Order: sequence, then C-alpha cells, then structure tokens
Amino acid sequence: MIVHNLGEENSVLNQFIYEIRDTHVQKDSMRFRRNIERIGEVLGYELSKKLNYSSKIVATPLGNKKMGLVQDNLVVCSILRAGLPLHQGLLNFFDSAENGFISAYRKHEADKDEFEVIVNYLAAPSLQGNILILTDPMLATGKTLENVLKALQPYGVPLQIHIVTVIGAEQGIKHIEYIFPDNTHLWIAAIDTELTSRGYIIPGIGDAGDLAFGNKL
Ligand code: URA
Repeated sequence: MIVHNLGEENSVLNQFIYEIRDTHVQKDSMRFRRNIERIGEVLGYELSKKLNYSSKIVATPLGNKKMGLVQDNLVVCSILRAGLPLHQGLLNFFDSAENGFISAYRKHEADKDEFEVIVNYLAAPSLQGNILILTDPMLATGKTLENVLKALQPYGVPLQIHIVTVIGAEQGIKHIEYIFPDNTHLWIAAIDTELTSRGYIIPGIGDAGDLAFGNKL
C-alpha cells in the first residue's frame, strides 16, 4: 500500500485538522461537516494526480488548446454515516463519479470492548475496471475497511483502489496493508499512534458520526 500522509507537510490542510480536533470548535457541527468536506476536497485533488488522463482539444473564443482530462471511471463509495461529508468533498471535485454507500457498525458483545463489524446495507454500481475511491473518515482498527472490501467483492475487480481517510491509527494502517492489494493508495490527513480499548483513536477527534450528525441512542 502506498501511504500519502498529507498532514506531514505544512499546508492549510492542517488548519482544518486542527479545527476538527479542537473540543470547542468541533461542537459547531456545521463547521465540523464543512471542515471534513474541505479535507475531502484537498485529498481528492491530490489523488487526482495519480489518475489516468487523455488529451482533449478545448475551443475558446480565440483558439484551441490541448488539455489532459481524467479518463477513468470513478466510483466513490462511502461508509455511512460518518463518511457523508467526506463523500461530498470528493464529489465537489469529481463531477461524474458514480456513488456507492455502505452501512457498517461496530457490534459490541454485552459490556465487552471487543467488537465485530457488521455490514448491513450496500448499494453500489459495478466496480469492474473502475477506480474505487473508498472513504471512511476514521481508520482506527481497519476492521471496517476489511469487511467493506469483502462485501464489495461481488461488484467486480476495480482497476485501482484509493482509500480516503481523515485520521488513522498506526495499528489500523498496518492491518489494512495486509488486506488490500499492494498498489492501493491511502490518502490520509493525519496519523495518530494510539487506540483506546474500545478502538477509538487517541487523540483523534472523538466520534466522527456524532460530531457531524448528532448523538445516537
Ligand atoms: N470512529 C470514530 O468516529 N472515531 C474514532 O476514533 C474511531 C472510529
């Protein structure tokens, strides 16, 4: 897997990461969603540099110009519900991408810390020969992405896979390195080192879904 940790370099991206982490700023859920969306836009722009391009002539009022335009068919597949603002950020740049949605949740046994990931809704177009862009804002243990990849297998073999995530834990990144094909790209805005016993990233941001859309019962 090729890891692109874009937060390593100084850029305005780190302002967005700072704001989603900050306990005061992150309480403004509209700003939180917009920051995740902006992160999706930055990561999407960067990943666009690895796509395939073909030449096209554009006619302006004063002449013609040859330009390179993306030739790949893209499918943006997001994990509900936390992936939605990231999904929107990618769609803001990839106008003609097709879309897939997958719901996955952590099922804890009684009061135990251990959990299994249940995938219980999936709507996606064919992935055969297409570029699959999988989005999940928090890559904690990597079990969600592992299960999602399994669930997507009947949809065909993508030409290439790009995983777009906001914050990841080292443990989760190592886990998915074994699961995904070697030529998979991981586009990530920050990497943290620890997980809580219940699989939350430290320092991370807290629960991305709750911050974006409110608490659940
Ligand atoms: N999901 C979240 O929303 N936050 C984490 O820290 C880990 C998984």
